[in-house]
Amino acid sequence: MSKTDVTEVETTTALPPAKRSFGARLGAHFKKWWWVHLIIFIAVLLVILLPVIYVGYPRIAQNQVTDSTLNITSMVIADPTPDSFHLMQTQVIGSHSSYHPKIYSFLASVSLLGSAHAFTSVQVPEVQSKDGAEVNVDQIVDLSNADAFGDFAQAVMLNEDVELNIYGRPGLREGSLPKTTVTYNKTVSMKGLNKLTGFDVTEFHIMTEPKNGRNMNGTVYIPNPSVMTITMGNVTLDLSIGGTPMGYTYLDNLVLKPGNNTIPMFATVNQSAIIGLVTSSSNPYKDLNGLVPFVISGNSSVYNGKQLPYFTQALASNNLTVNLNVTRALAELGLKL
Ligand SMILES: *[C@@H]1O[C@H](CO)[C@@H](O)[C@H](O)[C@H]1NC(C)=O
Ligand SMILES: *[C@@H]1O[C@H](CO)[C@@H](O)[C@H](O)[C@H]1NC(C)=O
Ligand SMILES: *[C@@H]1O[C@H](CO)[C@@H](O)[C@H](O)[C@H]1NC(C)=O
Ligand SMILES: *[C@@H]1O[C@H](CO)[C@@H](O)[C@H](O)[C@H]1NC(C)=O
Ligand SMILES: *[C@@H]1O[C@H](CO)[C@@H](O)[C@H](O)[C@H]1NC(C)=O
Ligand SMILES: *[C@@H]1O[C@H](CO)[C@@H](O)[C@H](O)[C@H]1NC(C)=O
Ligand SMILES: *[C@@H]1O[C@H](CO)[C@@H](O)[C@H](O)[C@H]1NC(C)=O
Ligand SMILES: *[C@@H]1O[C@H](CO)[C@@H](O)[C@H](O)[C@H]1NC(C)=O
Ligand SMILES: *[C@@H]1O[C@H](CO)[C@@H](O)[C@H](O)[C@H]1NC(C)=O
Repeated sequence: MSKTDVTEVETTTALPPAKRSFGARLGAHFKKWWWVHLIIFIAVLLVILLPVIYVGYPRIAQNQVTDSTLNITSMVIADPTPDSFHLMQTQVIGSHSSYHPKIYSFLASVSLLGSAHAFTSVQVPEVQSKDGAEVNVDQIVDLSNADAFGDFAQAVMLNEDVELNIYGRPGLREGSLPKTTVTYNKTVSMKGLNKLTGFDVTEFHIMTEPKNGRNMNGTVYIPNPSVMTITMGNVTLDLSIGGTPMGYTYLDNLVLKPGNNTIPMFATVNQSAIIGLVTSSSNPYKDLNGLVPFVISGNSSVYNGKQLPYFTQALASNNLTVNLNVTRALAELGLKL
């Protein structure tokens, strides 16, 4: 039997001093070279972060501002003068973003979409941008361009919808990230007066005792589908029948509110001319059973003694025709035709 030699393999050899554990080696390496690693770490961090902060973040911020919407839910024009008015406006921000950056107060120029000139600048207050956030503007605005505002007022008068452009460069801050500047360029659609469609003289009477030359009174109905409350002052409208001037209608201290407006009116009409017309055998309206078509066209809007050219322009851009029962008005006075 041969003896199997078991060769003892030395398994427990002590490591030479240079062959330490990986961890230990790493530790020693860092002890010596930590500053190189720190510099590399910081450099990598900066290479990643800087573009995020200075390129990506402004871009994300800009996209958020671009994607947000703006609704004007209320707009009050008060104390108008030829070159200014008091504006009170509520805007509602719409946003689907989960970020709610702070948008700093900024100067926004407001123009009719497509117009070359802004009609005013508005200081928009600071706001935390989130869905449903309200922005309230309350200030005296100077009409930097009263003609451009006249075009806006006319567009409001004539159109069902009016598009406004609001432009500015506000600062924006998200959390603890640095402040960045974004471009705010929004088109806001709002309802207009749509040619005062639905306008009606619901009641009119010949005054038995004329006052200040005013010899008719009554009530007008003016629907206002917009969100605007417009102080127009003393409004004068021209009255004509078949192209012949017949006098003036007055809406004193007119303030158009959103919804249905029922407003007292007065008129100075040439009664002898009207009676002459309806009693003449050549009355072109004799088949209308007493009705006479009056054309109402804008003459002027005056507030505190000053004519407001922009409202005058808006009023002049729109003619209305109302059929008034002259026979009935005369019958009220006991005059039978
Ligand atoms: C803004 O108005 C539009 C249409 O009128 C509506 O669909 C939207 O929900 C409104 N957004 C806000 C934030 O009120
Ligand atoms: C704002 O955006 C509109 C298009 O939506 C563009 O026509 C207009 O030039 C922009 N305004 C500015 C000042 O960049
Ligand atoms: C119109 O004036 C008459 C007096 O002439 C008055 O009785 C009437 O109440 C007035 N109507 C309206 C609607 O102002
Ligand atoms: C305004 O008047 C019209 C009818 O002329 C009516 O249908 C509507 O409900 C009224 N609106 C308000 C807010 O009263
Ligand atoms: C009223 O009409 C008559 C006849 O059309 C005319 O002769 C008269 O001058 C007019 N009066 C006024 C104040 O315009
Ligand atoms: C406005 O009314 C005045 C009288 O009050 C008249 O002289 C003038 O011609 C009218 N202007 C227009 C544009 O109808
Ligand atoms: C409208 O005219 C009347 C009478 O002239 C005046 O007392 C009133 O102050 C005027 N209203 C406005 C808003 O200018
Ligand atoms: C409105 O009617 C007046 C007189 O009837 C006329 O001079 C004017 O051109 C008309 N305006 C419009 C916009 O149709
Ligand atoms: C106008 O009024 C007269 C008298 O009140 C009446 O007979 C006539 O039917 C009225 N016309 C219309 C179109 O309502």
